[in-house]
Order: sequence, then C-alpha cells, then structure tokens
Amino acid sequence: MSEGTTTTRGSFASNFGFMMAAVGSAVGLGNIWKFPYITGEYGGGAFVLVYLVCITMVGLPLMYAELIIGRRGGSDILGALRKLTQSKGALGTAFSYLTGLMAVLSAFLMLAFYSVVAGWAVYFFLLSVGLIPAVEFGNATVFDELAANARTSAICHTVFMLMTIGVVTLGVHRGIEFLCKTLMPLLFVILTAMLGYVAYTGGLDQSLSFLFRPDFSKLTSSAVLEALGHAFFTLSLGMGAMVTYGSYLKEEGRVIRDSVAIAALDTIVALLAGTVIFAVVFQGDLEPSAGPGLLFQTLPELFVNMPGGRFVACVFFGLVVFAAWSSAISLLEVVVAYFVDEWKWPRFVAAGGIGAGIWALGLACAMGVMMTQDTTLQDGLDDIVSRYMLPIGGLLIAIAAGWLVLPEDGLSGFRHMVKGGAVFGGIWQFLIRFVTPIMVTIVLLWQMGLFDAWLKGETPAPPAEKGELAAPKEPAG
Ligand code: PFF
Repeated sequence: MSEGTTTTRGSFASNFGFMMAAVGSAVGLGNIWKFPYITGEYGGGAFVLVYLVCITMVGLPLMYAELIIGRRGGSDILGALRKLTQSKGALGTAFSYLTGLMAVLSAFLMLAFYSVVAGWAVYFFLLSVGLIPAVEFGNATVFDELAANARTSAICHTVFMLMTIGVVTLGVHRGIEFLCKTLMPLLFVILTAMLGYVAYTGGLDQSLSFLFRPDFSKLTSSAVLEALGHAFFTLSLGMGAMVTYGSYLKEEGRVIRDSVAIAALDTIVALLAGTVIFAVVFQGDLEPSAGPGLLFQTLPELFVNMPGGRFVACVFFGLVVFAAWSSAISLLEVVVAYFVDEWKWPRFVAAGGIGAGIWALGLACAMGVMMTQDTTLQDGLDDIVSRYMLPIGGLLIAIAAGWLVLPEDGLSGFRHMVKGGAVFGGIWQFLIRFVTPIMVTIVLLWQMGLFDAWLKGETPAPPAEKGELAAPKEPAG
C-alpha cells in the first residue's frame, strides 16, 4: 500500500526503526555528561521537576513541530519549510532559506567538534579493551596527554568520522535505521546491566539522593534557564535533525505519541546514566563533576579498582561511543539530506564530500587550533552552536510552525487522535505561537549574558560556562 510513497531519497521501513533513530539522535554525550551533573548541582528532584516542565512546554511542542514539518514537507529542512510556507509568498521563502541554511550550517559546525570528543571516547574504548598496550588504563594523566596529543586525537576523530560517513552513505533504511535498531536496544540493556552492577557494588544510595532528593533552595533562576537550554541540545532540536528524520516517515498517525516517547526515553537514559555514573563516583569517595573530566579522568581511575572493572569500563565506553555515533549520524544526515534534496547530489557523494569537509574542520579542532587568543576552535564552536545557533534555530522553527505553516499542515498530527484532538491541537498551537518563542528568547538573552547583573550573587554558578560539551570552570574530583 505504501509502496507508492517510496522515493529515491529513502524512508524508514518501520515506526520502530524511526523511533530508534530519533532516540539515537537525542541520546548522546549531553545525556551522559551534562544532564546528570546539572541535576545534582541544581537541586536534584526539584531540578528534575523543572526540567520536565521545560521538556513539556518547550521541548515537546518543538519536537512535534519539527517532525510534522518534515513529514508534511517530505524533504530536507529548507525544502520542507519552503513547501509548507508557500502560501506566505516571498516572506515564507526568505524565512525558509534563513532557517534552513542556518540549521544546515549548525549541524555542519557541531559535528566537527562533537566528533573530536567522540573520538576520545573511541580511544578510551580501545584502551579499555587493551588495544593500546603502551598506555596504562586508569592512569589520571591519560586524558590530558590525549587531549594535548594532536596526532592521536586526529586519528581518533578520523576513525569516528569514517564510522559516521559509512552509515550515512548506506542510506536511511540500510544504514541509519539498521544501525540504530541494533544499537539503541543494546544501549538500554547495557545501562540496565550497569545499574544492576552498581546496586551490587555500592554507591547507589548516595547517587540516588544526589540526583533525586529535592532541594528547592538550589533551584535558582539560572537552574531554570539551564534546564531550558539543555532541553534543546538533548532533544536534538533547533537544527533540523528531527525535521530530516520526520521527512523519512511513511505515516503521520503516530507523530504525537512518538514525540512524547522520544522525549521520555531521552530523559530516562539521562537519569539512568546519571545514577550509574554517580554511584561509581561515590563508591570512590569523590566529588561529582561534569564534562570530559568526569568521563575520561574520574571514571577510568575508579573503574580499575572495582571488581571486574576493566570489563565494566569496556562496556561503558562502548555505550558512550554508541550514544555519540547515533547522534553524529543525525547531524551528518541533516547536511546530506540538504545536498541530496536541494542540489540532487548522489547520496554517497554528499556523505563523502560533506563528511570530508566536516572532518577537515574537526581536524583543526583536534590539532588545538585557536579561534581567539584564549579560546580554542573546539570550545569556540561549541559555544557558538550550543549557546546561540541552537536556540535561534528553535525560535525560527517555532515561528515557522506557529505562524507561517498552514494550520491544516501544522495540526495534521492531531487529526489522528481518537479523542481530544481539537483541544490538544489548540494547546499545541498556543504553546508554539507564544510560549515557546518567548521562553526561547529568554534563554537566548541569558546565553548572551544579558541577565548576568540580575542573576549575580546566585549560587551555584552555571556549571558549563561555555558550550554544552565544555567542562565546567572547576571540575571537582
Ligand atoms: N542530542 C545530542 C546529545 O544530547 O548529545 C546532541 C545533538 C545531536 C544535538 C543532534 C542536535 C542534533 F541535531
């Protein structure tokens, strides 16, 4: 029946495959080293509550908006928006180009620095498996040496980019869907097994109380803004990843359910990862930290002293690589879909050519090229993309979905609801037209430092002063 919808651009064969790809995009380094830390730092259970509100009020409406724009537009982010905003004439076209090209550029830039960090995870995986015999696993200096060693960082980044390009070249069904359908369930199994492991070896109680005991005194305005900002990054919103995946969906009947499930699974993985990681940290009597220091310094040091620690380390770093890989694939796919759909490039040319461009930029990051006198290209790109381009992209997509796309397209997912479609559709429209843009604008102004004077004196300070993947100013432990 659906054969007729099959085009050369490819599609997901099953809804499960689509779900795993979308969850794979959302679950990434952000879940593993950012969310658990900000949760513990900003009041545990109290922060989780605020975060859930942010996900519901801003994340979910945008997730649905991106998916439905992709599904109805049936094309890359620029093409999909152009098609759906046709009724607005030149304004719609100009808006589509602005939003689409910015999203494509964001994905390009982000993959360059994301891949360098993911390359480090590949290195630690190989190290824990014993494939780098010259280096001692668990030695605290390994990470500093790696980050300072341009050649090794560059090799690892190259390996990771090849893995990403390879999957995207294979296409939506044979590459992305197949891989994510295998990796994501495995990731859940690994996380659950690790939870069982820490329940047995200790540290679980402290971890759970660090993560979940509500402390409303820590719930500052910065905490709320941090939660909002992180909601974008973790759900892969604002750069067209979900628009692109939505465009490969054959049916739209489940878009609403899928949006909720993607956000829920992403949050569950973040909480599970946090519980496991901090149990290990507390077992070693250390202070929780975030960023590369937590993953690549604190944890390896602790793993070596745990029962069966070397094996646990392999499994854990395997999980980090999986999570980063499926996120990186979605970033490359945003750019590849643009060149395939807009410029009619064959997929393998787009994946190889664009992949090579991203690789070259990532190489400059891995080699420690400086962007300004005191900011590396790596940190600078992270800063620009995570703090500015993602929220601006989210704002533009919300405006497009709320004001420029015809309601019959925007609301089409709600028509499939058995009950309450009109009511929920009305709520979505209100959120995407007013609430999301206002909240995103507030985050943006905060990111630009406009509230600094007002927030002064608040404790604790935002943990990641730079981008999403940067270490906090003073990593403890
Ligand atoms: N959601 C990913 C993470 O939490 O690490 C990062 C990400 C992937 C953001 C893909 C945006 C994107 F398009």
